[in-house]
Amino acid sequence: MGNPISLPSILMVGVGGCLPARLVSNDELAKTVDTSDEWIQQRTGIKQRYLVEDERTSDLAVGAARQALKHAGLSADDIDIIVLATTTPNDTFPSTASVVQKDLGAFNAFAFDIQAVCAGFVYALGVAESLLKTGQGKRALVIGAESFSKLLDWDDRTTCVLFGDGAGAVILEAGAPVDDWGVLSSVLHTDGRYRDILYVDGGPSETGTVGHVRMKGPDVFKHAVEKLSSALDEALTKADKTPDEIDWLVPHQANLRIINGMQKKLGLDPQKVVRTVSEHANTSAASIPLALNTAVRDGRIQSGHVLAFEAIGGGLSWGASIVRFGRPS
Ligand code: COA
Repeated sequence: MGNPISLPSILMVGVGGCLPARLVSNDELAKTVDTSDEWIQQRTGIKQRYLVEDERTSDLAVGAARQALKHAGLSADDIDIIVLATTTPNDTFPSTASVVQKDLGAFNAFAFDIQAVCAGFVYALGVAESLLKTGQGKRALVIGAESFSKLLDWDDRTTCVLFGDGAGAVILEAGAPVDDWGVLSSVLHTDGRYRDILYVDGGPSETGTVGHVRMKGPDVFKHAVEKLSSALDEALTKADKTPDEIDWLVPHQANLRIINGMQKKLGLDPQKVVRTVSEHANTSAASIPLALNTAVRDGRIQSGHVLAFEAIGGGLSWGASIVRFGRPS
C-alpha cells in the first residue's frame, strides 16, 4: 500500500539546484580529448556539462539547499536532518553534510553523508523518509551533490566525456497522514558482485589515493535497463500504482539511450519523461534532483503530480521511488 494511514505522510515540499559556473561543450572537450561532438551525442545524448573550478562539493550543495528552502518557504532553523549523497566529498572526513550544516546555519539538524554513487539520491530519499516516519525529526534536507570531474581520468575518453558536476536538493516534511501523498514507496538494491564493471581505482584504505573512475560501459548499460525497470515495477506495486498513473518519470541522467529504453519498457508517453542529460551530462547523485528542479522551475511538474525516480550506479547499487509531489491543498 502507498502509505499506511497511521504513519505521517512524508511530503516533498521544496526543490533546488546549483551548477558550477564553467560550461564545457563537447566541441571544447574534443580539443583535448580524442573524441567528437558527434560521437558523444550519438552514443549518450550529451551536448555539454558544467565543471567545477574553485567550487567545492559543499558549495554546490549549499546553493541547491538555499533554493530548496526558499521554494518550501522555510529557513535553515526548520531543518532537523541533513542527508547528503555524494561520491566526491570535500574531504574524507568530516562529512560534507556537516559542512553544509555549518554554511547554512542549520544547527538544529544532525547531518551525514550517504555513498551509493549514482544511486545516491534514491538511497538518501529512502533513508530520510524512514527517519522522518519514525519520528527522528519533522523536516529533512536531502541533497545529491558531486564534483564528479575530480574522479575522472582525462586521458580515458570512454569515461571522461560522460560526467558533469552539480547539486540538487529537496525538502521532505512529515505531515498529518493523508492517503496517497508524499513518498509512496522506496525500493533499494545492491549487488557487490558487479564491483568490477564500475569502480574507482583508489581510496584511503586500499591505495591512499583518490583514484579515477573505471567502467565497462557496455556491461553497465546491459544491467541498467533490466535492473531499473524491475526496481520501478517493484516501487509501483509497493505504491499501489500502475505505469499509466505516473505523471513524470524523473530518471537518473546517465545516457539518453537508457532513459528512452526505460520509457519504452514502461509504455510511457515520451512527453512524460524529464531529460536533462544533454545539458548536465551524468552528475551522479545530483542528477535526479537537478532534473526535478529543472522541471519544477519550468512549470512541467506541479503539486499533486505522481513522480517516479530511478537510478543505478557503482556497487552495483540501484533503486526507485514513487512520490506524489507537493502539499495537499
Ligand atoms: N569518443 C569517440 N570514440 C569513443 C569514445 C569517445 N569518447 N569512447 C569510446 N569510443 C569508441 C570505442 O573505442 C569503440 O571503438 P572501437 O569499436 O574501435 O573499439 C567505440 O567507440 C564503441 O565503444 P563502446 O564502448 O562499445 O560504445 P557504446 O555504444 O557501448 O557506448 C557508453 C559507450 C559508455 C556511452 C555506453 O556503453 C553507456 O552509456 N554505458 C552505460 C554507462 C553508464 O550509464 N554509466 C554510468 C552509470 S551510473
